[in-house]
Amino acid sequence: MKTSIGISDANRKTVAEQLSKILADEFVLYAKTLNAHWNLEGPDFHSVHLYFEELYEQSEEFSDSVAERIRQLGHYAPASLKNFLALTHLTEELTGGTGSQNLIKNLLADHETIIEFIRGNIKEFDEAHKDAGTADFITGLMEKHEKTAWMLRAHLK
Ligand SMILES: [Fe+2]
Repeated sequence: MKTSIGISDANRKTVAEQLSKILADEFVLYAKTLNAHWNLEGPDFHSVHLYFEELYEQSEEFSDSVAERIRQLGHYAPASLKNFLALTHLTEELTGGTGSQNLIKNLLADHETIIEFIRGNIKEFDEAHKDAGTADFITGLMEKHEKTAWMLRAHLK
C-alpha cells in the first residue's frame, strides 16, 4: 500500500536515506557501548559497568525508534551489520585502552558526532523536504543525545 502522508516520494526517499545513516550510527554506537560495558577495567568498574548498561539500553531504543520512523515514511530500514558499517559516520573500534575515562571519551565523541549530524538535518527535513514530523523526531533524539553527552562529559572533569 502506498504511503500517502502529504510528503512527495522524492522527499520521503531523501529523508529515509538520511535517517538510515542515523540508524547506522545509533547501531554502531550500541555495539561500541556493549564493548565498553564488557571490557571495562579499573577501580570504578562496578558503577561504570552499570552506567554503560543504561547507555546501551538507550542506544537500542534509539535504533528501534529511528528504524520505525524510516518504515513510517514507507521505506525499509537497513538492518544488516554490513549495511550499518557502510553507512555509519563512526568507526567501530574503541581506541586507547579499557579504563573508564578513556572509554567515556570514546563514547562521548560518538554522541557528539551524532548530535552534529542530526543538527545539520533538522532544518533541511522541515523546510527542504517538507517533513515536519521527522524534523521534530530527530530534534527530540538530538536532545536525548545532548543530555547523555553532558553526563559523559561530567565524568571527565
Ligand atoms: Fe551485562
